[in-house]
Amino acid sequence: MDYITHSEAETEALGARFAAGLSDGAVVALYGDLGAGKTAFVRGMARGMGLDVRVSSPTFTIVNEYTGPRELCHFDMYRLEGADELFDIGWEDYLRRGAVCAVEWSERVEEAFEGDEIRVRIEKLDDNARRITIGGQGTC
Ligand SMILES: Nc1ncnc2c1ncn2[C@@H]1O[C@H](COP(=O)(O)OP(=O)(O)OP(=O)(O)O)[C@@H](O)[C@H]1O
Ligand SMILES: [Mg+2]
Repeated sequence: MDYITHSEAETEALGARFAAGLSDGAVVALYGDLGAGKTAFVRGMARGMGLDVRVSSPTFTIVNEYTGPRELCHFDMYRLEGADELFDIGWEDYLRRGAVCAVEWSERVEEAFEGDEIRVRIEKLDDNARRITIGGQGTC
């Protein structure tokens, strides 16, 4: 499905609606350039999951964990060389524990996915417009 948003708030709202329909344990692979709006989308996801938390890019860590009525693990792979580092911090445990996992810069860790991830691609159309494509499992 393709959506166009015209502001950060609209992207957050889409993320919230999307996450409200996700099962626990879902893996969301996000793609898009710097400043595309991946973190904005994940901030919305947290809201849609009923989490009253501040979501920012995990700058100094690979993952931020948000806990409340549900659990969201927010990964940022920007600084990673490859999936090995992700396995080193216990990626497989994250997959098993039933949290929703949202992964920014998924292109860096493609081999970590098991084929059941939901792909979300965000493209900058202009300063404020974004095309957000939410794929099926294992598609783009
Ligand atoms: N329609 C839109 N949706 C989302 N963000 C938008 C939109 N229009 C403008 N913006 C701006 O684009 C930026 C998106 O920042 P955000 O941190 O979410 O991007 P990102 O994809 O996570 O980048 P990074 O790769 O650096 O982590 C913000 O400054 C936001 O205000
Ligand atoms: Mg980000």
